[in-house]
Amino acid sequence: MSLAIPEVKLHDGLTLPVIGLGTYKLKGNEGVNAINNAIDTGYRLIDTAYNYENEGTVGKAIQRTAVPREELRITSKLPGRYHSYDQAIRTIQESLYRGNLDYYDLYLIHWPNPKQDIYVEAWQALIDAKKWGLIRSIGVCNFLPEHMEHLEKETGIKPSINQIELHPFFNQEQQRIWHEEKNIQTESWSPLARASEVLQNETIRSIADDHNKTISQVILRWHYQLGAISIPKSSSPERQLENISIFDFSLSDTEMGRIAELTRPNGRINDQDPATYEEF
Ligand SMILES: NC(=O)c1ccc[n+]([C@@H]2O[C@H](COP(=O)([O-])OP(=O)(O)OC[C@H]3O[C@@H](n4cnc5c(N)ncnc54)[C@H](OP(=O)(O)O)[C@@H]3O)[C@@H](O)[C@H]2O)c1
Repeated sequence: MSLAIPEVKLHDGLTLPVIGLGTYKLKGNEGVNAINNAIDTGYRLIDTAYNYENEGTVGKAIQRTAVPREELRITSKLPGRYHSYDQAIRTIQESLYRGNLDYYDLYLIHWPNPKQDIYVEAWQALIDAKKWGLIRSIGVCNFLPEHMEHLEKETGIKPSINQIELHPFFNQEQQRIWHEEKNIQTESWSPLARASEVLQNETIRSIADDHNKTISQVILRWHYQLGAISIPKSSSPERQLENISIFDFSLSDTEMGRIAELTRPNGRINDQDPATYEEF
């Protein structure tokens, strides 16, 4: 069974499905099988990163599937240790080599690393790689508004998308409003908060019971109604199907409001505040 997932259009014209598959920790043959199963189920957006060391796994799944390459949307990400212009260009080429791909649909700077402070060089490399046809759309992850303003001021080009930690315990309301004003698409990483206690939350459970849905489905529907793309990771065929079976019900404003109340100032999973946290 293959489900159709609605799409959104980024400011540069690329279309993306509103749910994709996260692949952190999906590796090797098991990972290939999980990704192929997801594609068979209806997933078309696959999220990898240089640092996940599984661009090859994703590439193998792409080779194996009968779904044409142009129907897929493959994202990868530039690690913090390769922000200098020359290293960024080499890393994009290495990412393509590892994935056995001619192009990535989306390539993101993984973290801004503001103390290192050379993310503008990385951005210039992404801009050039896009001009050369190696990437169709360029964006960022974990960038605060000040970082994105800096990119636009220095290069005249703003990201198409910002992938940020977003789940019911950390709902990023201010950042989402800012994205909307700038026409930058919000994408939620760890949309299920890595299957932490959020999946036992009583408020969400009662909403789920009212709709005859699971807690995960209510959370993923909530992301969709917020206007965010979500990329839940699952290695299980049943949960992959569960996670995209969310387009046959909707949450009321009251239900959206009840979930909004669950957010906490310290709700991040690992306290990774992009203003100070750096990842290489
Ligand atoms: N840009 C960044 O800095 C950044 C940071 C973190 C993550 N990411 C990306 O975001 C993706 C998603 O985030 P994540 O992997 O951290 O966490 P997540 O998607 O919120 O949660 C994944 C966990 O939830 C479980 N799960 C999935 N669906 C479920 C369901 N319906 N019911 C119960 N459990 C379920 C999975 O187990 P099973 O596999 O056993 O189903 C897995 O343990 C990553 O894979 C990665 O691609 C990006």
